[in-house]
Amino acid sequence: MLQTIVRNAIGLGLFAMVTAGLIALTQSATSDRIAEQQRQAQASALWEIVPRGSHDNELLDDTFPLPDDPRLGHRGKPAKGWVARKEGEVLGVILPVVAREGYSGDILLLVGIDRQGEILGVRVTAHQETPGLGDGIERRKSDWITSFNGRSKSNTPAEAFKVKPDGGEFDAFSGATITPRAVVAAVRDSLAVFEEQRSYLLNPVTPSPGVANE
Ligand SMILES: Cc1cc2nc3c(=O)[nH]c(=O)nc-3n(C[C@H](O)[C@H](O)[C@H](O)COP(=O)(O)O)c2cc1C
Repeated sequence: MLQTIVRNAIGLGLFAMVTAGLIALTQSATSDRIAEQQRQAQASALWEIVPRGSHDNELLDDTFPLPDDPRLGHRGKPAKGWVARKEGEVLGVILPVVAREGYSGDILLLVGIDRQGEILGVRVTAHQETPGLGDGIERRKSDWITSFNGRSKSNTPAEAFKVKPDGGEFDAFSGATITPRAVVAAVRDSLAVFEEQRSYLLNPVTPSPGVANE
């Protein structure tokens, strides 16, 4: 009797250990895959914002520590931006920005700004907004995100840098104003940070190895 109980207990213990090990392995493989997918999404968004022919530096490796400004949404976590150069001159920078006011959580953005303070392009690299309602922020779903191209603080003052239902110039989606409102606010804030940090951003310091963006 006792022998049977001990045997069963050992069997159960072994089973639990093997199961826990398998779960841990799967989890680590999945999180590696998610991180890799995120890196790929980031790289292809970078190329869309700053096409390969427009600069002559190794964009993916030319990074700098992002200013720690709460408006960029990183909540004190170190992040890195990218710089595009041609013949040694900085053409513009690409800032990773987190819009925290999405309908279903954080929306990760890349915001490219040229040295004149004009937007080169914006792309969403991760979000959980509702398909068919909030996902028009994705470039492959609609061209809404390109409505930021060429915008700057001087041609679009803060009062106009809002969605139309709030009195601004950017379209909202029908029945889904929360998502575009969050993205528009995050891009407006990125431009404000760019203007304030212009001299640092256009003369970025050393690369920041080891800092991985969200
Ligand atoms: C199931 C469900 C999912 C929704 N998903 C989104 C979304 O992803 N983005 C969004 O802006 N609004 C979404 N909404 C709508 C919001 O609750 C809100 O009504 C809307 O953003 C307000 O926009 P409106 O002023 O154009 O009506 C969703 C609503 C429901 C019921």
